[in-house]
Amino acid sequence: MKIVLAYSGGLDTSVLVRWLKDHYNAEIVTFAADVGQEEELDGLEEKAKATGASAHYTLDLKDEFAKDYIYPMLRANTIYEGQYYLGTSIARPLIAKAHIELARKVGADAVAHGATGKGNDQVRFELGYAALAPDLQIISPWRMEVFRKAFPGRTEMIQYCADNNIDVEASASKPYSMDRNSLHISYEAGILEDPYFDPTTPENKSMYKLTVDPEDAPDEAQYIELDFEKGDCTAIDGEKVTPAEAVYKLNKIAGKHGIGRVDIVENRFVGMKSRGVYETPGGTILMMGHKQVESLTMDRDLEHLRDGLIPKYAELVYNGFWFAPEREALQAFIDNSQKSVTGTVRLKLYKGNVTTVGRKSPYSLYDEDVASMEGVASSYNPDDATGFIRLQGLRLRARAATQFEFIEQ
Ligand code: ARG
Ligand code: SIN
Repeated sequence: MKIVLAYSGGLDTSVLVRWLKDHYNAEIVTFAADVGQEEELDGLEEKAKATGASAHYTLDLKDEFAKDYIYPMLRANTIYEGQYYLGTSIARPLIAKAHIELARKVGADAVAHGATGKGNDQVRFELGYAALAPDLQIISPWRMEVFRKAFPGRTEMIQYCADNNIDVEASASKPYSMDRNSLHISYEAGILEDPYFDPTTPENKSMYKLTVDPEDAPDEAQYIELDFEKGDCTAIDGEKVTPAEAVYKLNKIAGKHGIGRVDIVENRFVGMKSRGVYETPGGTILMMGHKQVESLTMDRDLEHLRDGLIPKYAELVYNGFWFAPEREALQAFIDNSQKSVTGTVRLKLYKGNVTTVGRKSPYSLYDEDVASMEGVASSYNPDDATGFIRLQGLRLRARAATQFEFIEQ
């Protein structure tokens, strides 16, 4: 039997390499998706092989992640429960896809992952596998009683590594769980499980990696200009950027100004509420800029229709239904809605805030003559508004005439 295991080099997945190998008497191939987690990828191959893997693959997915996952999601101004930019959620389908492709390439019988049995990630990975490779066996050790019994806690895992000569970093584990990629870092579990615990106090705030505390941000505001073409950011301050470069550069700029921190309690797909802290610096700016160009260039009713679909689209991304027909159909609608979303936005970054100071577009629907309080415009005759308002009010008058007692006032 051959198993491809999603591997991070941490304690959990190191244990998994050896445990899967022994339990299934299998050959283990490890795999890490480089979606921008930076230093965490160093030295993985040597580590995996020393732990018992027959081969290791680190696949660079950074460009694909930004171009085919982050950007399409940003075109929809996607946000989960009004606050979460979906940084972890959006990476999962891509990781699942790469995992499957590797499994095919090396002729594996099964794919395995180390997500816990209580979270969203197990669902997202496995829905991705289901959609792309329904025939492959899925091994989810954290949902196997025999595995959970063997490893009720960290202590047992550390002991197992010591007993099996598995070198896991001696560094103290963080008192929370982190997931990093190009779009964000998420922090949850451990000390953060108390939803009243404050991670921004002087003793705790070293947790944040991508953003400075807004209180420590520069006293000088910074202005940036973003160009959008058909809903995608294509240049920063006049310089062309690829999607991956845009996210990377904006992370740096926004992080310096303390932009993009969110601390929420969210609803997991599996039912429980969970406290999460996120840093999405570049994504926050991209979303804000995109909205501004839309506000200038997008038809009102199209915009409102699309806005109504965001909670549904966000839920699909969060719940792991990226490779589902309704997500694809919504995406086609969203992409079509972006035909005219081309223009430039000017933003001001200052101590945790991003504010818009200007926007322009060759496709602007904004008509200064029509909107102006001064003078008369030929396409808008105020006299037309008289009948317009009278008809809009028709049903309200009828109600007042016959059902006055039902009006809540
Ligand atoms: N709660 C977030 C989500 O479901 C973040 C999950 C973080 N995952 C992790 N393995 N640390 O998208
Ligand atoms: C996990 O449980 O593996 C991480 C958190 C989540 O997936 O929601």
